[in-house]
Amino acid sequence: MTKKTVRDVEVAGKRVLVRVDFNVPIEKSSGAILDDTRIRAALPTIAYLREHGARVVLMSHLGRPDGQVVPALRLAPVAARLGELLGARVEAADDVVGPSARAAVEALQPGDVVMLENVRFEPGEEQDDPKLAEQLASFGDLYVNDAFGTAHRAHASTAGVAKFLPAVAGFLMEKEVDQLGRVIAEPERPLAAIIGGAKISSKIGVLRHLLSIVDTLLIGGGMASTFLKAGGVAVGASLVEDGQLDAARAIVAEAAERGVDLGLPTDAVVAERFAGDAASRIVALEAVPDGWMILDVGPQTVQAYEAKLQPAMTIVWNGPLGVAEWEAFAQGSRELARFLAKSQASVVIGGGETVALVSDLGLSPAYSHVSTGGGAALEFLEGRTLPGVAALQDR
Ligand code: 3PG
Repeated sequence: MTKKTVRDVEVAGKRVLVRVDFNVPIEKSSGAILDDTRIRAALPTIAYLREHGARVVLMSHLGRPDGQVVPALRLAPVAARLGELLGARVEAADDVVGPSARAAVEALQPGDVVMLENVRFEPGEEQDDPKLAEQLASFGDLYVNDAFGTAHRAHASTAGVAKFLPAVAGFLMEKEVDQLGRVIAEPERPLAAIIGGAKISSKIGVLRHLLSIVDTLLIGGGMASTFLKAGGVAVGASLVEDGQLDAARAIVAEAAERGVDLGLPTDAVVAERFAGDAASRIVALEAVPDGWMILDVGPQTVQAYEAKLQPAMTIVWNGPLGVAEWEAFAQGSRELARFLAKSQASVVIGGGETVALVSDLGLSPAYSHVSTGGGAALEFLEGRTLPGVAALQDR
């Protein structure tokens, strides 16, 4: 990474303001954390700072409270979980920059950790208000951004605060930028990408950017139906973005021009309606019944995709091949996940749904990298500059 990291600065005795992304799924009524992956992912940075005698001030958002105090989105349960994982007390402040936060920060001793309240309770956070950024900065001598998952947002705690303090990356930020960066900058070839998801409109940026770098591009998910319809296939009642048919054709044409091997489904699991318990069957693409919809790729497609992926040395996957949250339409994605877990290639996985899928299968450790970023990973793969990364000091 070309940015400075915590290794490049002196942290002993300093108050270090750390932006983490603890936007974790939480059960509203009980406050139970349903998946603590993002908390665990920030542990190396927090542990390093504590071991080196820093006073650690953590800030994160949780959900989208839009500048209001929303009790169900308080960070106390998250601070408690972090405390369990660290084996240390993590003080949770009741406000972001108010008296509770200030008192907790002032009481910090070397090695202590305090967690400010949800930064999005402050209206200035998402507006990148310099006043809020300055108030946050007053809690630290140094700023560390370890929140890769929020690095695509130019908010007060992710970018603005870096104008007031020396700003460096944490270990998670470094790992994400290095791993995802390798895919788009210096991949071992052949490089293959599998892009799924419901809508082509939300993936158009990544598809276009990847076309300029990949050797193989495989399409799955709901958006495959738009590609198929654009190619003249009768897709029944499948979700199609009619406004994107030309965009799909342009991608097919560009792939041909660039010599990219573009894969589209050749068979499908179709359902009578859009529901997890709908009647379903496997059909060849020419045989999608009228009124039925494609909700997953079929076994022949999975086999063909696996054959195309066999020679790849680097593979990036973002977006499931079907409606993977429903058992009946998860088979294509699961098969692919298992195949990739055994692959010799360096495999990088990103995107909330894809990450949830591989984590449910217990396969996350089998890949080279599983990103904590959803939108951030996607924007990175689009080749866009992430404000949270750009704000950090160059080495
Ligand atoms: C995420 O979950 O992708 C990040 O935490 C960013 O959240 P946001 O989309 O609400 O900005």
